[in-house]
Amino acid sequence: MAFAILCRIIFAILILLPISTIAQTNLNITLGSSIVANRSNSTWLSPSGEFAFGFQQIVPGSYLLAIWFNNIPQRTIVWSANRNNLAEEGSIIQLFQDGRFELNDPRGQRIWAANLAGPRVAYAAMLDIGNFVLASNTSRVVWQSFDEPTDTLLPGQTLNQGGDLVASFSETNYSSGRFLFAMQTDGNLVFYTRNFPMNDNIFAYTSTQTVDSGYQVVFNQSGYIFLAARNGTILSFLSSESASSSQFYQRAILEYDGVLRHYVYPRSNNGPGACGFNSFCSLGTDQRPNCECPNGYSPVDRNDRMSGCKLDYVPQSCDREINETGLFSFIEMPNADWPDFDYDIFEQYDEDSCRRACLDDCFCAVAIYNDRGCWKKKFPLSNGRLDSSIGGKALIKIRTRNATVNPTSESQQNRKDQSTLIITGSALLGSSVFLNLVLLSSLLIFICYNRRKSSIIQSYTVLPGVNIRSFTFIELQEATNGFKEELGNGACSTVYKGVINNENGKLIAVKKLGKMVEEAEVEFKAEVSSISRTNHKNLVQLLGYCDEGQNKLLVYEFMSNGSLSSFIFGNSRPSWYKRVQIACAIARGLCYLHDECSTQIIHCDIKPQNVLLDETLTAKISDFGLAKLLRPDQTRTTTGIRGTRGYVAPEWFRNMPITVKVDVYSFGILLLELICCRRNVQTDVENENEEILSYWAYDCYKIRTLKLLVADDEEAIYDIKQFEKFLMIALWCIQEDPSLRPKMKRVLHMLEGSVEVPIPPNPESFTTIC
Ligand SMILES: *[C@@H]1O[C@H](CO)[C@@H](O)[C@H](O)[C@H]1NC(C)=O
Ligand SMILES: *[C@@H]1O[C@H](CO)[C@@H](O)[C@H](O)[C@H]1NC(C)=O
Ligand SMILES: *[C@@H]1O[C@H](CO)[C@@H](O)[C@H](O)[C@H]1NC(C)=O
Ligand SMILES: *[C@@H]1O[C@H](CO)[C@@H](O)[C@H](O)[C@H]1NC(C)=O
Ligand SMILES: *[C@@H]1O[C@H](CO)[C@@H](O)[C@H](O)[C@H]1NC(C)=O
Ligand SMILES: *[C@@H]1O[C@H](CO)[C@@H](O)[C@H](O)[C@H]1NC(C)=O
Ligand SMILES: *[C@@H]1O[C@H](CO)[C@@H](O)[C@H](O)[C@H]1NC(C)=O
Ligand SMILES: *[C@@H]1O[C@H](CO)[C@@H](O)[C@H](O)[C@H]1NC(C)=O
Ligand SMILES: *[C@@H]1O[C@H](CO)[C@@H](O)[C@H](O)[C@H]1NC(C)=O
Ligand SMILES: *[C@@H]1O[C@H](CO)[C@@H](O)[C@H](O)[C@H]1NC(C)=O
Repeated sequence: MAFAILCRIIFAILILLPISTIAQTNLNITLGSSIVANRSNSTWLSPSGEFAFGFQQIVPGSYLLAIWFNNIPQRTIVWSANRNNLAEEGSIIQLFQDGRFELNDPRGQRIWAANLAGPRVAYAAMLDIGNFVLASNTSRVVWQSFDEPTDTLLPGQTLNQGGDLVASFSETNYSSGRFLFAMQTDGNLVFYTRNFPMNDNIFAYTSTQTVDSGYQVVFNQSGYIFLAARNGTILSFLSSESASSSQFYQRAILEYDGVLRHYVYPRSNNGPGACGFNSFCSLGTDQRPNCECPNGYSPVDRNDRMSGCKLDYVPQSCDREINETGLFSFIEMPNADWPDFDYDIFEQYDEDSCRRACLDDCFCAVAIYNDRGCWKKKFPLSNGRLDSSIGGKALIKIRTRNATVNPTSESQQNRKDQSTLIITGSALLGSSVFLNLVLLSSLLIFICYNRRKSSIIQSYTVLPGVNIRSFTFIELQEATNGFKEELGNGACSTVYKGVINNENGKLIAVKKLGKMVEEAEVEFKAEVSSISRTNHKNLVQLLGYCDEGQNKLLVYEFMSNGSLSSFIFGNSRPSWYKRVQIACAIARGLCYLHDECSTQIIHCDIKPQNVLLDETLTAKISDFGLAKLLRPDQTRTTTGIRGTRGYVAPEWFRNMPITVKVDVYSFGILLLELICCRRNVQTDVENENEEILSYWAYDCYKIRTLKLLVADDEEAIYDIKQFEKFLMIALWCIQEDPSLRPKMKRVLHMLEGSVEVPIPPNPESFTTIC
């Protein structure tokens, strides 16, 4: 089994606070220099100030002699001397006149000493690459921290035969822990669990199987970590995600959970600054970082933007007796991520499974869904970022209803739960990651935020070209049992349900077209061939046709969940999330018709009745086959209005060219209906201002009474920002002036959150010269 399969290298990123570096010229640390372990925090800095050598107080009165990244707000120790024997206050590290380099306690008892061999030490220096060296008067290195790694490798460092990394005991206890990563003298590179607290290695959980060939682990300046043979040949990559050391701080650390992780930190101070726990950082229009709280959270301290955010509600109970799954739902935040510390990862998940996985798990605070990957995050969320380069979406778990128990006992209950939550949570993290190491069948590498932009999996099968089936009328008569079960009918067609017996009983929808005028007949075949070339998961697929004289039929895939119209105007309101998903799906289908298929297709009749839902509730546009395929020279058609009242763009009534923008208009109306879950025209309302949704919606937007539109839709109320955004997009789509309406591609980008939505003008402000 390839090493890559077993070894999980995780790239993570930490956003830096813009800290001004105290540049200090390289003063050689001269003989006689010393540092005392006390609260004066004196250090020896590297010339750039990026690394520091000195004492870190681990617990009050106990100090670790260490090297750390000095420009990172979090304590990030990369090397330590006395991890298993902390130094008490007043201990002293000294470069003696005779060249000895020793750590002694206040009574002069030796705690640690550099193992010296070779020429006499003349000076010491903290180098910019994070290496602390003792050198001779000819600048020959006599001793260096790079030769005695603790649990971390830095770029430029190698782990030679006989060298090893030992994980810390826990996140905060830097003592030697349970895992070991050894470059053995036999050439094999092995991960072991250690028999804690004894020093023997009991279980090799993975190895490179390079006995006799492996020589050293190299972490080079381009960010590659690999096992090399003596002759320099690369035998195996541990991390092949490059990151230039000139742009990133990097480290590879065997963490206390047994995972070797490659961390990358942007050096740049221009990036978004770090925000507090549970908040996220985005770049404002002024290119300055903003710290914001996600929906459902509010700032810990309103006056301090960096203070982080706290939950507005009681978190989900982990008590087995109280199943609160039904009381929570999600708010979507496209392009957001909290990249550190996923405690659980699922691959090849669909979004619904990802949502379910997080809902059913009381530890899960946020799930990141991106490209069929699902990452579960728990509190506190750190290093949040919102950026269009991230892609995917964060699903923020929110409470939509309060539990109906005595509130005081509930909050006490939850306080208790939180402490157990942390304990079980971290135990879970340790063990599950370890299991993952053994079981995971693929290497998870992610760098920065592009990490999930791997291959896009096509979730639909490709129908080859015009190669659709031609049916005989008899066949279709049989398939529909003599056109028995009617699914619906339109002005000049009726749709029947059918089943193809020789294809495992595949369900179909057969559309029987009424009598056609001769001219239309000529076009029928051309249209069929054109439509059959379309292939998109948000379009109902044409499977075949029948063309026998007067009998003209089209055969489509059967959509088991009926039309969007019955879905949104039916008795029970579908979830806000589903509706958001459907809006995006329709936009994608339209984008395809307008821009991506070989002949531009204007649907001309977008409305909820013409959007069908399959068994997974994926929305698919139907009936585009009967829309006239307008060739560019035909766009000035004035022959009769197509489309359905209420959804029809104003240009049909005016002497104006018909373009793809008529579909944008209809989509805008549909979007309004979808987000408000009501028909555009509704006469049984109390207030007559509310009769026409498209007018009323603009009024509500203008005078900021959005809540009237969402009424009692709790999920939408929780996600009011997204609701408002969708409303703004809809208002752009229904502009009277077609040139003001965005193209579908832009609409889609706005829906997905990768493009800002500008303030929409009043849709009716356009006056035509008729
Ligand atoms: C730390 O030790 C140094 C050297 O002994 C001493 O000068 C300094 O006052 C001490 N600082 C504190 C805060 O104890
Ligand atoms: C030394 O560091 C500690 C902990 O970070 C801090 O509380 C203390 O104020 C620092 N002392 C000095 C003298 O900077
Ligand atoms: C440090 O000391 C060495 C040896 O004495 C010398 O070659 C080097 O120039 C010194 N570096 C600085 C920056 O003083
Ligand atoms: C370095 O020290 C050695 C003795 O340890 C001495 O012989 C030599 O001259 C010194 N070299 C320089 C450049 O000072
Ligand atoms: C770290 O853990 C070890 C092993 O349990 C323990 O002996 C040591 O006291 C701990 N150190 C600290 C600072 O808690
Ligand atoms: C280098 O060493 C490896 C392992 O020992 C061996 O497989 C490879 O053939 C060598 N390559 C060269 C160019 O000598
Ligand atoms: C690091 O190793 C990679 C992979 O062999 C190589 O492509 C790259 O040039 C190396 N970088 C440096 C700075 O040596
Ligand atoms: C909680 O209830 C949901 C249905 O509301 C169910 O799917 C889930 O399995 C239950 N979880 C537990 C832990 O019983
Ligand atoms: C839950 O109860 C709290 C406190 O009574 C209240 O502020 C909050 O609005 C309620 N949340 C919901 C979703 O009902
Ligand atoms: C959608 O169809 C599936 C399978 O046909 C069915 O189980 C599900 O209940 C339907 N959903 C809705 C909302 O009608």
